[in-house]
Amino acid sequence: MNDTPRLILHDIPDYHKLDVYIANGGYETYRKAIKMAPDEVTNEVRKSGLRGRGGAAFPTGLKWTFMPKGSDRPKYLAVNGDESEPGSFKDRQIFEHNPHQLIEGILISGYAMGINTAYIYIRGEYHKWINLMQKAIDDAYSRGFVGPKMNDTFGNNYYLDIYIHKGAGAYICGEETSLMTSIEGDRGYPRYKPPFPAQRGLWDMPTTVNNVETITTVTPILNMGGDNFAKIGAPGHPGTLLFGVSGHVNKPGVYELPTGTLLTDIIYNYCGGVKNNKKIKAVIPGGSSMPPLRGDEIEGVKMDEESLKVLGTHIGTGGIIVMDEDTDLVKATLRIAHFYHHESCGQCTPCREGCGWMENVLHRIETGDATSKDLDLLVSIANNIEGNTICALGDAAAWPVRGFVTKFRDEFEKAVKEKRTFISPNIVHGKRSSANTLLQAS
Ligand SMILES: Cc1cc2nc3c(=O)[nH]c(=O)nc-3n(C[C@H](O)[C@H](O)[C@H](O)COP(=O)(O)O)c2cc1C
Ligand code: SF4
Repeated sequence: MNDTPRLILHDIPDYHKLDVYIANGGYETYRKAIKMAPDEVTNEVRKSGLRGRGGAAFPTGLKWTFMPKGSDRPKYLAVNGDESEPGSFKDRQIFEHNPHQLIEGILISGYAMGINTAYIYIRGEYHKWINLMQKAIDDAYSRGFVGPKMNDTFGNNYYLDIYIHKGAGAYICGEETSLMTSIEGDRGYPRYKPPFPAQRGLWDMPTTVNNVETITTVTPILNMGGDNFAKIGAPGHPGTLLFGVSGHVNKPGVYELPTGTLLTDIIYNYCGGVKNNKKIKAVIPGGSSMPPLRGDEIEGVKMDEESLKVLGTHIGTGGIIVMDEDTDLVKATLRIAHFYHHESCGQCTPCREGCGWMENVLHRIETGDATSKDLDLLVSIANNIEGNTICALGDAAAWPVRGFVTKFRDEFEKAVKEKRTFISPNIVHGKRSSANTLLQAS
């Protein structure tokens, strides 16, 4: 456990303070980056294999190449810290413990793409983290690491301004096009793509949207070199990831681990196992919008996008939600469906109506008023939402409902038939005496 590389959550006291950051080599990677041509910086990120940490795992270097070159039009970087998906709470660790590495990552990314203005979008309720991040930005400005004084500090002509934009507490504002309409001062409504943000983004200008953790990871990539970063973790999805683990584990929290770490290692070694030594019924691997894994599926599962894709789910935000054998999955699914129904912006019919229907049907099951046909209806509604909406909130609502109903059909059937929710005993993960010893199969 001790040789785990730490690229973001460093074990250095007061690392969030500018002087401590500088004493540990802070802002030196940016000096290194500006000795390279902007395209070389982008190439280094491409070589690293870095994939976005905001949910879709899109290759970051490739995204940067979509930004037009040689134009006088202003370009923007929007750093996505809305972090409103249930089960996701890792970007706040960066605001709190490593804000200057994020700022340095913004400088490097901005330099690579020829951007002079960056916005960090933070959910409005996160007062504490907004204040901490603002303090770091103010300190960086006052020392000339950000803003027009950068020209003197670093001895070149490039400079960049950073602004925090506070959201008003809407999950949909984390969706990239919605985030941009929100920054522009309008209600956060997703826009149809294409055009993509690199073509028409903020104020119709070329814009790159990247997650907070993605941009923070750019700094160590430039420091160690793309090739070295690519050797960490799973080859198809390299690096370390901030896994936010919640639910029925003894030590919930955010763990920085290489991609490809076994899910059972995360739960049993790092998180101290399941509370009261219970068995696991289900695990959502990447935030509440991802299809769940059954407890008896998690043995040998590696936590990276390519491995999870094979199992019909995704890495998402790396937010792992562990549900023990006593979890009432009808109630859990209803709670998730309620969230997405509530957060739907209402622009497209399949999402606006479908999310409400799914919630109503699940409510019928919970209150004992449903029939088996309602389970097929749920799957059918989810199928009709998926892929038929302007933004991916529709998929985010459909996937967990379809996943729970199909993977735990027996539990849902039982709930319907007996007019009560039922805990199925034969589909839980084996009980363990330690991290590596399986005592019984079910
Ligand atoms: C409904 C919805 C909410 C989202 N919320 C977030 C969020 O809070 N933070 C985030 O980084 N990405 C979020 N995303 C993904 C963004 O649209 C976008 O893909 C991401 O910010 C790109 O950054 P990355 O390439 O670095 O991952 C959300 C997407 C959807 C559909
Ligand atoms: S999918 Fe839902 S949240 Fe996204 S644009 Fe359509 S109605 Fe709005």
